[in-house]
Amino acid sequence: MKNFRILIVDDEPDMRESLRDLLSRDGYHIEEASDGEEALDLYRQNSFDIVISDIIMQNMDGIELLKQLKKVDPEAVVILITGYSSIQGAISAIKMGAEDYFTKPFKAIEIKKIIQRIYDNKYLSIRNEQLMQEIMRKEFPEIIGESQAVKKMLSEIRTVADSDVSVLVTGESGTGKELAARAIHQSSPRKNKPFVPINCAAVPNDLLESEFFGHEKGAFSGAINRKYGIFEVADTGTLFLDEIGEMPFSLQAKLLRTVETKLLRRIGGTDEISVDIRIVCSTNRDLKKEIEDGKFREDLYFRLSTYNIHIDPLRNRKDDIPLLIDNFLQRKRLSSITFPETMINALQKYDWPGNVRELENVLERILLFSRNQQPTIDNLPPEFRTNLPEITAATNDYSPARANPARSLEDIEKEHIQLVYYNCNGNKVKTARTLEIGLKTLYRKLEKYNIKEPD
Ligand SMILES: Nc1ncnc2c1ncn2[C@@H]1O[C@H](COP(=O)(O)OP(=O)(O)OP(=O)(O)O)[C@@H](O)[C@H]1O
Ligand SMILES: [Mg+2]
Repeated sequence: MKNFRILIVDDEPDMRESLRDLLSRDGYHIEEASDGEEALDLYRQNSFDIVISDIIMQNMDGIELLKQLKKVDPEAVVILITGYSSIQGAISAIKMGAEDYFTKPFKAIEIKKIIQRIYDNKYLSIRNEQLMQEIMRKEFPEIIGESQAVKKMLSEIRTVADSDVSVLVTGESGTGKELAARAIHQSSPRKNKPFVPINCAAVPNDLLESEFFGHEKGAFSGAINRKYGIFEVADTGTLFLDEIGEMPFSLQAKLLRTVETKLLRRIGGTDEISVDIRIVCSTNRDLKKEIEDGKFREDLYFRLSTYNIHIDPLRNRKDDIPLLIDNFLQRKRLSSITFPETMINALQKYDWPGNVRELENVLERILLFSRNQQPTIDNLPPEFRTNLPEITAATNDYSPARANPARSLEDIEKEHIQLVYYNCNGNKVKTARTLEIGLKTLYRKLEKYNIKEPD
């Protein structure tokens, strides 16, 4: 209660004195002002949880003070004290945003009740919010972050987890979409059933249909045995369709049918098989644009995105970076290491186009350079060391060439390929696509520059 601040405003010292006596016994922090101007000054210096003001005062009256306070702080909580004569004024004050009023001569119990009610409202809701956060921290220990964006994501995961609604998780590459999908499954009633992820980008198009729906023996040449598709494998559990934007158009109608009816037929099969699955999808593409371009079916989109969880890019929540670093070190069992402040600052200045995954890769590199010992600023990869603030201010993009104009083209090429390759988590198809080069060229360059797979 000591942190709960009450300001008493009255031009009669006796009145202030008796209110102070009454309320300080309950342990609140009390200050006094003898007129409206003084009250405003005090409020501007350090706001109060409640302002109790008399209506009739010299110079600025209570109503005027209320108006001025609301200008300073629209959330200000003001209680007015009136004599019987100005009860009409009190009513209009409530209309103008006063929280409550009481009449003189006041009854102690009446005032205490009003204050207690305001105190409870404020502190119980803060406390509830804190408890909720603590519960979610325990429920989703792998998801790190204290930013509003992460808190919002956790509460959305909580909201959708219990039901079977289809969830579409969107966000840039490396923001934690798969992590979120797993968390949804983990806190759902299906948690003891399978979680089956399939990356639609990683399976060649001509194999996707059989991968999804399975096939009967002899359905096509090469179908030596019966194969169960992932819908059947995921039966009773959660199916995670990663990178759903990569799904070929030709297969989308069939997928929609199964999603809607929960029925499927294996390739070459005659029986309809029913499955009980919950679907979570993810994409880093703009599906609305894909729909406009005729590459993605709108009806499938609506089916899959009953609820959309969007994950904010890391550059919008840079305050989470120190926490992510700590967590990374803990997972590596290197908790004894602390990163120097200057290093953390440099990392916070960068824009992280590859998000948390890129951060993890950079941390790996730092630890590699420091041989798992306490790192120094010299262990920062070159792009973070050179003139970083100017670069980000000027262009907002990271560019190895700008970072050091004296470097050779090959050197920059090597580093850029490595960066993209690590950001794509070693996925060569994706890397080649991002770099807009052929897969063969990528293989050649990886070999030429001796770029190792990320671990
Ligand atoms: N909030 C977070 N807390 C802790 N680790 C995180 C967080 N977000 C992402 N990560 C880590 O970052 C890496 C990338 O996460 P994930 O694979 O879920 O991203 P993604 O969005 O699916 O990426 P992509 O689009 O490339 O598939 C993983 O190692 C994951 O554990
Ligand atoms: Mg992913």
